[in-house]
Amino acid sequence: MFPSGSPRSLSLVFLLGMASQGISCPSRCSCQYLEVNCTGQQLQEFPVDIPLDTRQLILAANNVSYLPPVELSFLADLVYLDCRKNLLGDDLDFTFIGVARLVYLDLSFNNLSQVTFSTFSHLLSLVVLKISDNPNLVAIEKDAFANNTWLRHLDVSRTGLTFLDTSTVRDLPNLRLLGLSDNLWHCNCSFLDFITWMMESDVHFPDADNITCYTPAGLRALRMPAAEAQLHFSCLTQLHKQDYVFLGLVGFCIFLAGTMAAWLAGVCAVIYETHASKGEEEEEEEEEDTAT
Ligand SMILES: *[C@@H]1O[C@H](CO)[C@@H](O)[C@H](O)[C@H]1NC(C)=O
Ligand SMILES: *[C@@H]1O[C@H](CO)[C@@H](O)[C@H](O)[C@H]1NC(C)=O
Ligand SMILES: *[C@@H]1O[C@H](CO)[C@@H](O)[C@H](O)[C@H]1NC(C)=O
Ligand SMILES: *[C@@H]1O[C@H](CO)[C@@H](O)[C@H](O)[C@H]1NC(C)=O
Ligand SMILES: *[C@@H]1O[C@H](CO)[C@@H](O)[C@H](O)[C@H]1NC(C)=O
Ligand SMILES: *[C@@H]1O[C@H](CO)[C@@H](O)[C@H](O)[C@H]1NC(C)=O
Repeated sequence: MFPSGSPRSLSLVFLLGMASQGISCPSRCSCQYLEVNCTGQQLQEFPVDIPLDTRQLILAANNVSYLPPVELSFLADLVYLDCRKNLLGDDLDFTFIGVARLVYLDLSFNNLSQVTFSTFSHLLSLVVLKISDNPNLVAIEKDAFANNTWLRHLDVSRTGLTFLDTSTVRDLPNLRLLGLSDNLWHCNCSFLDFITWMMESDVHFPDADNITCYTPAGLRALRMPAAEAQLHFSCLTQLHKQDYVFLGLVGFCIFLAGTMAAWLAGVCAVIYETHASKGEEEEEEEEEDTAT
């Protein structure tokens, strides 16, 4: 009845056996076959005694503020982890080997403030990632999901995000659904690239009516297709302004060069004329000399 093969599972046979026989189920949680559900129990900490063969762990609606990496690493078969509505912060550590199988991770309604490459880079099997409703989440690094190539469903709705680099999501080959609504999008010319990608991609954006600009004030509450048109216009006219300055400079240089050329020509003409008249005088003098 035990998954045979690796030395790790052999070394855990005893504990697995205890778990499978239902000897350990965390207090205040309900345990079914391969599933532990601790929803809404006001847990302050990650529960101890989780059966080691658990595939699905639900810790939703508690007050857990820390996921201990070592204890999570014992759960080598974990594929589904639901931690929504807790107090988890940025000290997430998913670098332990066990979570390589994790497919579903829900961290919505927590206290994340930033996502970097190292946050999820070891979760190579991740398909669903929900980090929506983290009001303090203000930054997602450009390559934050570079290692999560199976990611299909990503939700960053209702956070404090103002900007997302296009490459963060564009390079995810399996992405089908991306939640972006109710964020504080800063619609400047850098963001135009992202909006253009949105318009052209096959990804589904749920609740699209609520994907709007927050700043600048002139574009507030504008939805993305409308924002694209506006930005396209203003970012292009900005280019035109630069062009005008450039053209003006070129014109001025040509004018300057022309003036210089005319001045030089004038100077040359004057020099030539004085020289020529001197020559004539000399010739006349010579003529007078020969006559006498
Ligand atoms: C977990 O338990 C809660 C309440 O105890 C219940 O509402 C929820 O449906 C359960 N979840 C699953 C996946 O069984
Ligand atoms: C859990 O957190 C909520 C909101 O932060 C708070 O109202 C509640 O009292 C906390 N519960 C416990 C048992 O600490
Ligand atoms: C959320 O995280 C910030 C730091 O990023 C911290 O100051 C704040 O106390 C945290 N809030 C809760 C409810 O844990
Ligand atoms: C990213 O994925 C590669 C393999 O796809 C792996 O070798 C590397 O260790 C991963 N990086 C991190 C930080 O986990
Ligand atoms: C646009 O805004 C983002 C974030 O607010 C900033 O990083 C970027 O430099 C801005 N781009 C321009 C062209 O102002
Ligand atoms: C969309 O935004 C409006 C106004 O902010 C809000 O009332 C509504 O609940 C939002 N819709 C969804 C589905 O979040």
